[in-house]
Amino acid sequence: MSARGRHLSDERRAALESALKDGAGYNDLRLVGFSPSTISRAKARLGLRRDDTAATGKEAVPPSAPADPVEIARLKGRVSALTAENKTLADRARKAEDLRAGLFGLTETPPDPVAFRAPEGGDGGAETIVLFLSDLHWGEVVSLPAMDGLNSFDLEIARARLGRYFQTVADLATKHWTGPAPARLILVLGGDLVSGEIHAELAKTNEAKALPAVKDLASHLAEGVALLRRRLSCPIDVVSLAGNHGRSTLKPESKESAETSYDILVSDFLEMALRGRDGIAFWVPSSVDAVFSVYGWRVLATHGDRIGSRGGTGFIGPAATAARGMKRLVADYAARGVHLDLIMIGHFHTPLMLEEGFVNGCLPGPSEYSRDGRFRPAPARQIWLTIHPRRGVTATRWINVGSPSEGALYAPPPEDRELRPRWRVPAVSVPRE
Ligand SMILES: [Fe+2]
Ligand SMILES: [Fe+2]
Repeated sequence: MSARGRHLSDERRAALESALKDGAGYNDLRLVGFSPSTISRAKARLGLRRDDTAATGKEAVPPSAPADPVEIARLKGRVSALTAENKTLADRARKAEDLRAGLFGLTETPPDPVAFRAPEGGDGGAETIVLFLSDLHWGEVVSLPAMDGLNSFDLEIARARLGRYFQTVADLATKHWTGPAPARLILVLGGDLVSGEIHAELAKTNEAKALPAVKDLASHLAEGVALLRRRLSCPIDVVSLAGNHGRSTLKPESKESAETSYDILVSDFLEMALRGRDGIAFWVPSSVDAVFSVYGWRVLATHGDRIGSRGGTGFIGPAATAARGMKRLVADYAARGVHLDLIMIGHFHTPLMLEEGFVNGCLPGPSEYSRDGRFRPAPARQIWLTIHPRRGVTATRWINVGSPSEGALYAPPPEDRELRPRWRVPAVSVPRE
């Protein structure tokens, strides 16, 4: 050891302490000749820690943590939770990256073009039109003021609505028809053709008694069927069914219900009026049901008052009653070995499409009776079906026959109900080079 090391001059000691105060590092001081012990003593004099980084050039050593087992367990749990959370976040970030990559991949180029090709040679099967015309209630009067301006009905309106019906059918079957011309038209007169006097209030308020109503209606139906025959090139088959309003007995009777029905009398007058016309055939079953086939599809038409189910069912209204009745008809005919493909009924004055078939509307529209029952007001309308040889029912239309002059129910909605969503037009995509 040198003399300079053992006896540090006052000048060098002051220089050392000054350097330590300025934060000089251990290695720096060693380089200028200060020994470790000299540096330590100087630090002790100045009250600096031995492990001071600036003085020693070594990492500071943290004070040792208390070895509390509870604290250790808590910290371990915290570490595990943070590790799991970190993994979840990493997974989410990875999935987001995948989704972004997928979306960008999808939208980078437009979808591949797809072409639907028409079947070779086309499907030339001509279809048959089935019309269920029912519940005309010819002769009934519905008062516009009593219906709060919603609907009205009398003989003049009935004639106008029936005229619109036949004109619309003729237009749909010609001007608005595509493909092979209709092969056949089946017109089912589905009952309740006249209002009848089956209730005292009808007997009091009807504009026409049953027999004059029968004659008046038959002449208008004859013109309607003749119009169809003139406009269409296909044969027309007319099927006639009895309804409950057309009965000539005070109460419904099961026996001879067809023979005693004014509805069937309408059909008889119609047949007489069209006698000698080519291409028109009539069928009046003695039963209340008519079962016929269209290309092998079995159709059951019946008025709807004799389906083993009647009345309404709570807020569902006639839908549940009609559906239950149709199930009973299916079961009835299945027991006879007859599978039914389609059922068509009227009577409920409520246009419906159900699992087994259709419920028709009516000609008068809502009346004082339906208003009192708080049935939902359905506009006057009649059903149109188109049946294809292979596809079965291909088109269902509801022919609306009312006019705004007959009640607010037939007026278009006011303009202030128009909703104007912000339609977005897809941007034109340019195929990539
Ligand atoms: Fe009816
Ligand atoms: Fe009826």
